[in-house]
Amino acid sequence: MLILALESSCDETAAAIVENGRKVIADAVFSQIKIHQNFGGVVPEIAARHHLESINYVIKEVFDKTSIKKEQIDAFAATAGPGLTGCLLVGLNGAKTLSLVYNKPFLPVNHLNAHVCANFIDSDLKPPFICLLVSGGHSQIIFVEDYNKQKILASTIDDAVGEVYDKVARLCSIPYPGGVLLDKMALSGDNRAFNFPEAKVKEDEFSFSGLKTAVLKEVRKFESDNLPKNNIAASFQYRVCDTLIKKTLYHAKKLNCNTIALAGGVAANSELRKRLEELKTQGFITHAPKLRYCTDNAAMVASCAYYNPIKTDNPLLFEVFSRG
Ligand code: KG4
Ligand code: ZN
Repeated sequence: MLILALESSCDETAAAIVENGRKVIADAVFSQIKIHQNFGGVVPEIAARHHLESINYVIKEVFDKTSIKKEQIDAFAATAGPGLTGCLLVGLNGAKTLSLVYNKPFLPVNHLNAHVCANFIDSDLKPPFICLLVSGGHSQIIFVEDYNKQKILASTIDDAVGEVYDKVARLCSIPYPGGVLLDKMALSGDNRAFNFPEAKVKEDEFSFSGLKTAVLKEVRKFESDNLPKNNIAASFQYRVCDTLIKKTLYHAKKLNCNTIALAGGVAANSELRKRLEELKTQGFITHAPKLRYCTDNAAMVASCAYYNPIKTDNPLLFEVFSRG
């Protein structure tokens, strides 16, 4: 089954053709990061306008990369939410239009479920597994019991992990989105230079706002020219990853589930991937999506449309939703 999927929930306009939920035939991503960098974050109105300008180009790009014709696509899919309303509308209406023109089903997809499905691309991972989903908008530990049966075991009570990365980066005058740069700087820093606190919350909760405030307090002690950015980045990254891995491990052991996967933009983080890999020595089977499928992309949306689309009686009437 060939699915063409569109993704436009935030600041990436993307299209992909995926076969049977796992094999990427062609994909294309247009990132708006440079556009929003001037504002220190995503400006929804500007993002929506750029999605409108780019969507036809990314669709054209995927078809240019393959001999498959639009008539051969079995279903068209798009992210319906959560995300920025004006942005989501572009992908959703694009895919609905293609579905009407080519008389094939339209499959709406939940963005968070799509991040989980990034683990199926180019892999043979099968449920059940525990998935640590960490992105710019969400931080959750999910028990993926089956392709379309999931249970949230823990979630954040304040900031999402990616959001905290971006905020801490801003405190250190690192341009948006700071996550990837902070990760690079952490590699040459001392992770014991600062002892940032771990939030004392319940096992079904994450909290990162206290950590953000602790970083702010340290940053204020330094002149901006002398800020030990690499040490701050390394100590912050250590605390974040340690907290995430410990809690994920707790839930995996509790459910007696020996397979653990990562998902979401922060799954691209080098320390988090290293700490996950280390769990193999404790007998766990671990999995992380390829780097390009961690941050927003359409291949994961196509995979999710195949394995776990949103259930609705009339998909063409299904509307976008901003919160999940
Ligand atoms: O999943 P994603 O592309 O968008 C959302 O659905 O939110 O995640 C974007 C987030 C941003 O906050 C970005 O800073 C973070 O993922 N991120 C990283 C890394 N790469 C992206 N955070 C830490 N380390 C990275 N290497
Ligand atoms: Zn995302």
